[in-house]
Amino acid sequence: MTAKQLQEEILSLKKKNDVTILAHYYQPIEIQEIADFLGDSLELSSTAKEKANSEYIIFAGVDFMAETASILNPDKHILIPNPESCCPMAAFLTPEMVLEFKKKNRGLPAVVYVNSTATVKAESDICCTSANAVKIVEKISHEFDIDSVLFGPDANLADYTEQLSKIHTIKMPENGHCYVHSQIIKEDIKIITEKYPKAELLVHPECIREVRELAKLVGSTTGMYNYVKESNSNINEFIIGTEVGLLERLTQDFPTKRFYLAKEKLICHNMKKHNLDLIKYLLENLDDKTFEVKVPLKIAERAIKPIEKMLEFS
Ligand code: 13P
Ligand code: SF4
Repeated sequence: MTAKQLQEEILSLKKKNDVTILAHYYQPIEIQEIADFLGDSLELSSTAKEKANSEYIIFAGVDFMAETASILNPDKHILIPNPESCCPMAAFLTPEMVLEFKKKNRGLPAVVYVNSTATVKAESDICCTSANAVKIVEKISHEFDIDSVLFGPDANLADYTEQLSKIHTIKMPENGHCYVHSQIIKEDIKIITEKYPKAELLVHPECIREVRELAKLVGSTTGMYNYVKESNSNINEFIIGTEVGLLERLTQDFPTKRFYLAKEKLICHNMKKHNLDLIKYLLENLDDKTFEVKVPLKIAERAIKPIEKMLEFS
């Protein structure tokens, strides 16, 4: 069966069974094309809660995204096409580490990036995504009346947030990072900007500071998408400092503009573990529990608080 035929089958099965498909921008392009909602992690969390009315939601993203959707929608069935699709950044922070940091820094709130496990979220005071980290840190520091916060697991997002908010972030841990974004170095940017001198550089806040400082825009995936959408018609070239899935989306949606990846092979292999065959299988076997994402009630009851607080503050 061709990809087009598979997509058509999926669309008809989806309609027949009343299933919503949510997909992140880093998904393979053929999955992005059949999604009901496409977005960054913040939009997908709020969409799962507010707009996806069907009983079954297929979440094409990594595990923490599906877990967040499940925590926010305990009465819905959240299905992940490949349960092995996880974000390695989450492994940098354990719940024990959060408790230890809190003990050592009494009175400081723990701000936890959504790229974390549900057990870590359960120990945190508030969650954030790459789209709202600055706002969240500003608001929580105001609420606690402090000028430092604990922040993990991404040390680069923590650093970016600190630069913009002027609130000190104590990194939990010092070296938490994303293997996709942190591989972009200053020399890569030098090479690509020399090749395309007219192009504007857009990068994700998970990039290292030296790279972020060269960018025209530092933003979440949706932040970058909207920047291109709203950009002046005489700006036609962009260098994209994030996973290749966003570049594929932009190339389809803005055919008159040119997009270049900041360096070769910016691929999140974890995001690419889903495929159309798995989605078709799920639609034909909605009750196969192997693919259902459920967070144990005791953890979910605690993890929902920092997630809801984030949504309220966003
Ligand atoms: P967004 O917040 O832009 O969706 O990014 C999530 C992510 O995993 C980036 O690597
Ligand atoms: Fe995790 Fe990085 Fe993949 Fe995002 S791109 S899901 S942070 S590994």
